[in-house]
Amino acid sequence: MGVIKGVILAGGTGSRLHPLTRITNKHLLPIYDRPMVTYAVEAMVDAGVDEIMVVTGGTHAGEFFRLLGNGEEYGVDRLLYAYQERAGGIAEALGLTERFARGDKILVMLADNIIERSIRPMVEAFSAQERGARILLSPVDDPAHLRHLGVPELDGDGRVTRIHEKPDDPPSTYAVTGFYFYDASVFDVIPTLTPSRRGELEITDVNNWYVGQGTMELDVLEGFWGDAGESIDAYYEVNDFVRAHGANHPEPPPA
Ligand code: DAU
Repeated sequence: MGVIKGVILAGGTGSRLHPLTRITNKHLLPIYDRPMVTYAVEAMVDAGVDEIMVVTGGTHAGEFFRLLGNGEEYGVDRLLYAYQERAGGIAEALGLTERFARGDKILVMLADNIIERSIRPMVEAFSAQERGARILLSPVDDPAHLRHLGVPELDGDGRVTRIHEKPDDPPSTYAVTGFYFYDASVFDVIPTLTPSRRGELEITDVNNWYVGQGTMELDVLEGFWGDAGESIDAYYEVNDFVRAHGANHPEPPPA
């Protein structure tokens, strides 16, 4: 089992949470009793991923040092930081971590995604996966919600045939969550991408490259998943859930 390194993406403009994100970085806003980004760190460390690079940007990057320091307090073995000069997209932010990854497999997390259960089983499954990528899906019934997310098209065997980013007509009732596993070829794919209509290098284009290679695997998350950056209502929904039930539980919570 090779090492899996962690990448936490905490850049971007957070414009959907303006004006709150004019005075701080979205991932420093509270989720219940602590800053959002600490949940991503906890999810990784609990799953055995303890070499982590945090990518951030904008004017509040220094606050991440103040909060996370060298990571000891959070159980991180090695914590590094990268600075994204402009919000050029999730895939662009990921590209900044190539020298950190140094050919190892990586787990990428969007720091605004919060989950109820541990991702340890998925980390173990990716450790055993010889090559390729792995995404985590979450069931979402509401088409209006799916139109703001990445949505997979699945074949009869439950394999992904294509991922559609923010589709007008969602092809399934699953969201692609902000947890992605990649082998080292991800850093050969990123330089081949071109900006999307929103002017960003899209993680969905990276994922579709792996789909095209036939090496994209998936798991379906059990329990709650939320994207706290999606809207102010989603932010409060995630807060309410975590306040009532907590997050990153190692075992299914008692019924
Ligand atoms: O939350 C899951 C969704 O995340 C997926 O279903 C979508 O397929 C995926 O594209 C992404 O969609 P969003 O529109 O929610 O992504 P957003 O622009 O909000 O960026 C998510 C996180 O990525 C953000 O919290 C920080 C990081 N990021 C984003 C950008 C644009 C960066 O670090 N740098 C960036 O330039």
